[in-house]
Amino acid sequence: MQVIRTIAEMQAQSRSWSRQGIAIGLVPTMGFLHEGHLSLVDIAKEKCGAVVASIFVNPMQFGPKEDFDNYPRDEARDLAMLEAHGTDVVFIPQTDEMYPKGFETRVELTRLPNHLCGLRREGHFRGVTTVVLKLLAAVQPDVAVFGDKDYQQILVIRRMVCDLNLSVEVIAGPTVREPDGLAMSSRNSYLSPEERRTAACVFQALQRARQMVNGGAVDPIMVRRSMTEAIEQNGAQVDYVAVVDPETLEELQIIKDRAHAAVAAFVGRTRLIDNLRLKG
Ligand code: PAF
Repeated sequence: MQVIRTIAEMQAQSRSWSRQGIAIGLVPTMGFLHEGHLSLVDIAKEKCGAVVASIFVNPMQFGPKEDFDNYPRDEARDLAMLEAHGTDVVFIPQTDEMYPKGFETRVELTRLPNHLCGLRREGHFRGVTTVVLKLLAAVQPDVAVFGDKDYQQILVIRRMVCDLNLSVEVIAGPTVREPDGLAMSSRNSYLSPEERRTAACVFQALQRARQMVNGGAVDPIMVRRSMTEAIEQNGAQVDYVAVVDPETLEELQIIKDRAHAAVAAFVGRTRLIDNLRLKG
């Protein structure tokens, strides 16, 4: 496994693979990897002859009061995990490689970010789309694999890829969960043992929503109320609970053919997100 730290070197490696007719799969990450990330590497490996994982904690997608400085980092551990999963190249650019002096371009969608996390994290998706476009330009992959836990992020990236005619297939890998249902996330490492037990309520709230819809519930207000209760009864704080159209992310007025539930909750100071298809 090779570690590449510059964009020029990464592009040269990708050109060489492409000349040999080898398909390239990219798994973009911010590091501090877990089984969820590794499952995305496995998906990329199944589809492509060469797999690149990127590790870059992207300052542009963090708000001024968010956890950029404290975001967990452990490069040596990440490299060992990626090597064990057969990654070919780990691309680890520094901030000044990605955003050199004079950098001023931003990539921004106008509709999808106006929902869910986009309303709570001003500028977050602008940071995500800008960095993902740069990672795609650096790695030139045929396939890019992202985790379904960040459901809105996948929709935003797919929209960008379509709107900008990028020739990359975006694949969503299923959320990998702990035995109690908690979605794996690098941020779970912030949780104290007691908070970790509480955190299971996030997925429980989503399961409760699905049970209600399977049982015939059609009123999103009732479903949201029940999700809120499941979270607050356990001592976590709701940031948002939503029942939305799975494509536009617009809040539903009534649950008919297609519905998706999304949750963001604070467990202590840690903000966790998760989502689940309810119908369709
Ligand atoms: O999902 C993430 O880890 C990040 O948002 C991503 C896609 C690597 C962009 O920084």
